[in-house]
Amino acid sequence: MELEAIAAEVRACEKCGLCKTRTHAVPGEGPADASIMFVGEGPGQKEDEQGRPFVGPAGSLLSQLLLKAGLRRPEVYITNIVKCRPPGNREPLPEEVAACRDFLTRQIAALQPKVICTLGRPASQTLIDPTLSISREHGVARTIGGITYVPLYHPAAALHQQPLQPVLVEDMRRLGPFLKGR
Ligand code: URA
Ligand code: SF4
Repeated sequence: MELEAIAAEVRACEKCGLCKTRTHAVPGEGPADASIMFVGEGPGQKEDEQGRPFVGPAGSLLSQLLLKAGLRRPEVYITNIVKCRPPGNREPLPEEVAACRDFLTRQIAALQPKVICTLGRPASQTLIDPTLSISREHGVARTIGGITYVPLYHPAAALHQQPLQPVLVEDMRRLGPFLKGR
């Protein structure tokens, strides 16, 4: 299956410097027929340890917020713009994002999601618009090449700024209709 073939390539990848400091690459996970894809910034410490996306504190909050919005985590596909952890959780460098970009492009082509939710500024600027402002444009959908893109606040931001949590839930509630008749 194509998603698994991509994951195997990611685990062996040495296309950027992040391969030197990673414990495990984190290809992404979710059902191959998911109609909604979530794209985060990059693996954190727990993700690097386990090789799975969003398994740390931001991940627990993401799972809770998804439930409040009527979505279940096992029915969405989750990945990141870079598949290896940036040291100290710094933002990925433009050259790292560029080196990793082909994996994400191929994952999108294999999954053919109806909706892609980008979590936080780096993912939103990479996939939607390099000048996008999350505070102004969160929850505002736009269709590019037959896929609906929805930028959202990153759950890690909502960990530190609790008032963002109901905002994220409200933005995610609008995704429910995309699950029906996938
Ligand atoms: N933050 C991210 O952007 N991605 C993860 O996988 C975990 C935390
Ligand atoms: Fe390869 Fe992406 Fe990991 Fe860089 S971040 S080594 S491009 S998988």
